[in-house]
Amino acid sequence: MEIIKINNMSKRFAVGNSHFTALNKINLTLNEGEFTGLVGPSGSGKTTLLNIIGSLDVPSEGKIEVLGKSIADLSHKESAQLRNLHLGFIFQTYNLLPVYTVYENVEFALLLQKMGASERRKAVLEALEWVGLSEKIKSKPSQLSGGESQRVAIARAMVKKPKLVLADEPTANLDSENSHNILKTMLKLNEELKTTFVFATHDEKVMSYLKRMISLADGQITKDEIQ
Ligand SMILES: Nc1ncnc2c1ncn2[C@@H]1O[C@H](COP(=O)(O)OP(=O)(O)O)[C@@H](O)[C@H]1O
Ligand SMILES: [Mg+2]
Repeated sequence: MEIIKINNMSKRFAVGNSHFTALNKINLTLNEGEFTGLVGPSGSGKTTLLNIIGSLDVPSEGKIEVLGKSIADLSHKESAQLRNLHLGFIFQTYNLLPVYTVYENVEFALLLQKMGASERRKAVLEALEWVGLSEKIKSKPSQLSGGESQRVAIARAMVKKPKLVLADEPTANLDSENSHNILKTMLKLNEELKTTFVFATHDEKVMSYLKRMISLADGQITKDEIQ
């Protein structure tokens, strides 16, 4: 099943009275169960592409379908629903809610799903175990290191077992051991639940786990390799 289908998609940003082409005529299909990375130097368009796939931004030109739905045809409410129910985001800036505990930050992702309280508790504790943060459930984000915050963001994205996880440099602040643990957990979810993962990364550790690597340079796909 096709999870993502992109046809001739470009993205331009207005800069002063001119514009900058961040993505240039991208064509790309990703199938269910892929473990794929967008790789390339800083500024090559990885984050922009991830944001458009996640319906957080819109293309300037071309077409994109996610989980069989044309993003341009979705109402505001429908695209929010797609994100809430089926997508997990791991942003570069963790976007944790500062007044909530670690537990509550992860639980938050489940509040829009129909799920009973005890099932929800089980899922939150399980997700925090995946990322090795069971001891920190009562901490607030301000009491965490950068790496711990990143792991909360990862647990929050994965707790609902979404169909598609979009991860922007998810290991940027993790030490080697935590990076490998988290990548192994993601790979396990990928294999057991067929969760599709798309990473934006330039971390060699992440690259070593990828099943497919798509190289970007200056907003264009320059290579697409199965590992
Ligand atoms: N909102 C924006 N306005 C103007 N330029 C932008 C904006 N967002 C990204 N860009 C530019 O688009 C290019 C690609 O950015 P990005 O997708 O963040 O790259 P990457 O994630 O690969 O480092 C960069 O040159 C960046 O400066
Ligand atoms: Mg980026």
